[in-house]
Amino acid sequence: MGYVPTFTYQAAVCHAPQFAPRSYRHFTVSPLTGAMGADVEGIDLSSASDAAIAELEQALTDHIALMIRGQENLTPPAQIAFARRLGHVGIWPYAKAMEGYPEITELIQEPGDKYAFGGTWHSDSCSFEHPPKYTMLHCVACPPVGGDTGFANQYLAWERLDPALKAELEHRRAIASGRLGYMTAASDAEVQSHTATPVSFRPEELLEVAHPVARTHPVTGRKALYVNSSYTLCLEGESQKQSLPLLRRLWEHAITPEFTCRLRWSRGALAIWDNRCCLHYAHSDYPGYRRHMRRIVVEGERPV
Ligand SMILES: [Fe+2]
Repeated sequence: MGYVPTFTYQAAVCHAPQFAPRSYRHFTVSPLTGAMGADVEGIDLSSASDAAIAELEQALTDHIALMIRGQENLTPPAQIAFARRLGHVGIWPYAKAMEGYPEITELIQEPGDKYAFGGTWHSDSCSFEHPPKYTMLHCVACPPVGGDTGFANQYLAWERLDPALKAELEHRRAIASGRLGYMTAASDAEVQSHTATPVSFRPEELLEVAHPVARTHPVTGRKALYVNSSYTLCLEGESQKQSLPLLRRLWEHAITPEFTCRLRWSRGALAIWDNRCCLHYAHSDYPGYRRHMRRIVVEGERPV
């Protein structure tokens, strides 16, 4: 009797801009992995020119997630002003806002917290009709190591699917629901027993919406897989039970190691990413330490 292989090798894959970063006039860019992500240095977000902001958005389009170092002096009003230069700044309804700044949610993990907020693979608020195109986190405090944010390039995830499966899924939609994930908690108190982030449980506002399984990025024109285990309830026209075998296969594929990178935090750094073409994941590997981020989202278009 022969052995049955329990693994497959991932064929070589990369995201081309990682190997050919543009030269920018206003900052330097250091790509992180062959899949996505870059460190950015040399820009002050509170005083950047329009030309510098346009270059930054180009770098974000190319590298999908950026860790912009050296923003220790970025005040909450300056962070909001920066966000507004990128689009409409939405107000996230599921958390108590920072005092005096309704646009900012403070993501706080206290040393004794059990779970990291955002500790499942997801694209932010994809149960909204107009999910955020960008999310940014400004790091007020982070552990000496740990607490990285992981990312997975969903252009690669879509492009690397089996062609027959792609053809089957090309014009299908899936139902994204706010009912899943931490929203399944029974109360604010239950959520707060897991995390110090001031999440506000509002079941009457939990949304469900149908979005394409693969959405087309409005800037690059490339398709990206747009389902995830935190929000996707089922394929449109199928029950959750019918959908799960295929969805589980897609979720596992979406986080193939070769599609990923990790952004490492430093105090004062600001990370920004494009939710339209990547998933992210908050690593929960720093018990006993505090992590504090100021989060703002920039509204995007309805996925097509
Ligand atoms: Fe998130």
